[in-house]
Amino acid sequence: MLVSAKEMLEKAKAGHYAVGQFNINNLEWTKAVLLTAQELNSPVILGVSEGAGKYMCGYKTVVGMVNGMLEELNITVPVALHLDHGSYDACYKCIDAGFSSIMFDGSHYPIEENVEKTKELVKVCAEKGMSLEAEVGSIGGEEDGVIGMGECADPKECKMIADLGVTMLAAGIGNIHGKYPENWAGLSFETLDAIQQLTGEMPLVLHGGTGIPADMIKKAITLGVAKINVNTECQLSFAAATRKYIEEGKDLVGKGFDPRKILAPGLEAIKATVKEKMELFGSIGKA
Ligand code: G3H
Ligand code: ZN
Repeated sequence: MLVSAKEMLEKAKAGHYAVGQFNINNLEWTKAVLLTAQELNSPVILGVSEGAGKYMCGYKTVVGMVNGMLEELNITVPVALHLDHGSYDACYKCIDAGFSSIMFDGSHYPIEENVEKTKELVKVCAEKGMSLEAEVGSIGGEEDGVIGMGECADPKECKMIADLGVTMLAAGIGNIHGKYPENWAGLSFETLDAIQQLTGEMPLVLHGGTGIPADMIKKAITLGVAKINVNTECQLSFAAATRKYIEEGKDLVGKGFDPRKILAPGLEAIKATVKEKMELFGSIGKA
């Protein structure tokens, strides 16, 4: 059964580790993430962007697929199905479809409007027993059409949003979606520390988890990060493994053209990436 992310994140924050959010795109992605979480006895969050939701034929299809896998694959670790960078409308669609968690990304609104809309969603999610992530500041780069300027969050605005009763808070701290450029200045730990001081027990979320050096991830966890989002890195692993299969001509041998065979190396590559991240985040054995 899908669960809200609240309990797993509160445990992570108190236990000084982070739970990974891995974005899903299709059946192979979902299966790879769920099987790895189960094998490693780790809680996990499945992230679904609006674009990926459309690609998978809508949020209800996603809920059906994930619930089916939880049952048929005997997944017993805590799993939250979470809308990633959701618009106001998408939040309501996911609430209706049966997601267990949503992110309302109101970071592009003036703070007053972000507060207003987040406040309304806090109420709705509380009634449904769902977790809610809010965002302040912005994550640089682009993810599935969501473009951010990368400005660091104002800690006072973070407190305003945290005080509304959200479950978790994403704050821009110099993090970027996709690959980090050579001249990236790194995470602003000063900003993260100031946010943590003002928001106390609130689990903080680090977006743009692809390619952040291990020492920065560990430091971020010591400063209150309890959820880390990874998307691009699984896509890169999947693409490299699939390319290798084709370049080696394996699709031309026997029944190597069977899609279940073509997609198998990519699935294994996602599992390896998820395992590596769960080790780094410290969530193994914490289910
Ligand atoms: O919301 C999802 C993420 O922040 C993932 O970022 O693609 O850089 O790993 P990433
Ligand atoms: Zn993100």
